[in-house]
Amino acid sequence: MTLEQEINKRRTFGIISHPDAGKTTLTEKLLLFGGAIQKAGTVKRNKAEKTATSDFMEIEKQRGISVATSVMGFEYNGAKINILDTPGHKDFAEDTYRTLTAVDSVILVIDCVKGVEEQTRKLMQVCRMRNTPVIVFINKMDREGKDPFDLLEEVEKELHISTRPLSWPIGMGDRFKGVYQLNNKVLNLYSANKKEISDDNILINDLSDPQLDQLIGEVPANKLREESELVEGVFEPFDVNLYRSGYLAPVFFGSAINNFGVKELLETFIQIAPFPQARESDVRMIEPIEKKFTGFIFKIHANLDPNHRDRIAFCRVTSGKFERNTFYLHTRLNKKLKFASPTSFMADSKSLVEEAYPGDVIGLYDAGNFKIGDTLTEGEKLQVLGIPSFSPEIFRELENTDPMKTKQLEKGIMQLSDEGVAQLFIVNPGNRKVIGTVGELQFEVIQFRLLHEYGASCQFRGLNYSKASWVSAENPSDMQNFLRTQASRIGFDKEDRPVFFSSSAWDLEYTAKQYPGIVFHETSEWD
Ligand code: G4P
Repeated sequence: MTLEQEINKRRTFGIISHPDAGKTTLTEKLLLFGGAIQKAGTVKRNKAEKTATSDFMEIEKQRGISVATSVMGFEYNGAKINILDTPGHKDFAEDTYRTLTAVDSVILVIDCVKGVEEQTRKLMQVCRMRNTPVIVFINKMDREGKDPFDLLEEVEKELHISTRPLSWPIGMGDRFKGVYQLNNKVLNLYSANKKEISDDNILINDLSDPQLDQLIGEVPANKLREESELVEGVFEPFDVNLYRSGYLAPVFFGSAINNFGVKELLETFIQIAPFPQARESDVRMIEPIEKKFTGFIFKIHANLDPNHRDRIAFCRVTSGKFERNTFYLHTRLNKKLKFASPTSFMADSKSLVEEAYPGDVIGLYDAGNFKIGDTLTEGEKLQVLGIPSFSPEIFRELENTDPMKTKQLEKGIMQLSDEGVAQLFIVNPGNRKVIGTVGELQFEVIQFRLLHEYGASCQFRGLNYSKASWVSAENPSDMQNFLRTQASRIGFDKEDRPVFFSSSAWDLEYTAKQYPGIVFHETSEWD
């Protein structure tokens, strides 16, 4: 197969949702359709619902062992699908943000009872930053939820994206009869079936066909006729280009747990979702079709077994062909590395990979060379962009409680921040370490891992900050003045870029007014 054919058959995407909307269930059903797993229940629950540390550690341990669930590949109808798993728990949202840098599109799952929720909003903001194409799956239609029109309006208003239903539900909850696929005019009758894949497709070219009344009853049939007329009147015909440029989200309705609406979603996804896309670098755009290999690291998974300190760095192939046992340039370190046992991931297994193509994700065993955002090439010096750090929300100063283990603590915290477990900022004077996270759990993880993997012990001192803004200035003297006068609230990230800590939106605004020459940025990358 040519490189172009390999690229065209790949679809790399993530499933995102507020916890409990049905992400895990949908993932599992997609894998069932793909034949990647044989029965429901195979996908390890990757969620840390309970906030007790012990539960969390148990889950992390499982994750450490079954890293396979981080990426799930399978083939369906000639397409190679790569699902990148994203943790649902909000304390690990940063991990999700980073994973979103490695996908070409997402499927957003929304619970029809709850509608748009907090995490949905945050995750969509990240998608909007890059105009990532989004397909919406409105789940749990077997429950009594919100009116479908209201749900669409909510998605449009709250997530700032236009919508276009491609299927339409017939009733909901106890009265849920199925969905009508507006595009290909197929009626899918609902039957609750958690285990198997049902295939009840009935072609109804014309909704005035009396067969419809026989199949679903007169009242629901009339309602469907009315609503679909309304849909066709209100919404523009589906425009795949608007979807691919991130402005329009096609919407499907279904019930993941009952395998309902999932196949239609998958098949449409394969047809419309973008194949592996170009990525921007600090030098130029990298096109997938380029002969030479490039790839970047978007996630690092620690091995929690203390006997094996190595980690797995997840590399998304950006261009060309990756080959096992070939030297590639680690551009940040200017060092040549080759990989004897790169791994590819299937739903419930991992295997040695000889070659990989754009869109694929490979696991590289790493003894500490990689940081998030690192780039591998065949020799060209460039760095893939678009993997910014986002501001943490909780800030604490790290205090060493065992002076005999200072070195271990230093090394441990550096490595954990390279892995992206938390962000580390250095504050002067005194080279103090401020740790920023998006959730409480991360502090527990850091403490636990520093102790168990590095033998270092620490405690955290709360700081009254809620945001870190990366700062820039056109005029170097403005920057110098700012850094000097605000020194106590300045930290330096691991790239040595200055950030300003603020305690509230008001505080930030007030400071920004005082320093008109300084630009405050939401993330570590800006135009
Ligand atoms: P998440 O990964 O987004 O956090 O959600 P997950 O798939 O774990 O689903 C959350 C809960 O919603 C699960 O119930 C799951 O069974 C249920 N669910 C998923 N899809 C549907 C659906 O289409 N209809 C209905 N009625 N429920 C659905 P749970 O009680 O938390 O877990 P479990 O004991 O059922 O596994």
